[in-house]
Amino acid sequence: MHDKKNYDVPAGVHTADVEAVLISAEQLSQRIQEMADKVSEKYKDVPGELLLVGVLKGAVFFMTDFARALSIPSTMEFMAVSSYGNATTSSGVVRILKDLDIDISDRHVLIVEDIIDSGLTLSWLLENLSSRNPASLEVISLLRKPEVQAAKIDLFDVGFDIPNAFVVGYGLDYAERYRSLPYVGTLKPEVYQNH
Ligand code: IMP
Repeated sequence: MHDKKNYDVPAGVHTADVEAVLISAEQLSQRIQEMADKVSEKYKDVPGELLLVGVLKGAVFFMTDFARALSIPSTMEFMAVSSYGNATTSSGVVRILKDLDIDISDRHVLIVEDIIDSGLTLSWLLENLSSRNPASLEVISLLRKPEVQAAKIDLFDVGFDIPNAFVVGYGLDYAERYRSLPYVGTLKPEVYQNH
């Protein structure tokens, strides 16, 4: 059992803007351990270290907790991408702002995603990384929205299926805010109106 004190939110982290907590810090940490156990089991006998690839910035919180929960060695790489199109419709055309620092050929690669909405960004990423000839390529995502089912993406594991609402916290932002909330939640409607 976790000490509840670990999850107290420091003052000044915008908690007054939160409407509801969808997934608590305790639920996140428990589920991430389960996901890490499943991944550790799958990759325990592969040669070399498992390479975790995260997309900045949303996946950073999940990535660091997930990596520490693994019982196998891993290394980490990050990419930054930007999606062409406007804020509400992802076009699926992606531009690389920061690429991987290493060659991934013959490496066992696991993409660590924060949330999959339309799945367009991930589809592009899968195609891009598989063209670099990794030994294997899989995806885990902490959160998944209902729409992604249409994109037919095979995921090795998903933490939580969530309703089609905009969520923040645990790495996810609204206009760069709320990433450091220790839980996943929704914002009060007036937060959007005031913006
Ligand atoms: P997709 O290409 O539509 O799957 O876009 C996924 C990306 O959109 C995620 O990596 C997030 O950066 C962002 N995103 C999607 N839904 C949310 C949300 O509810 N809160 C915050 N960011 C989101």
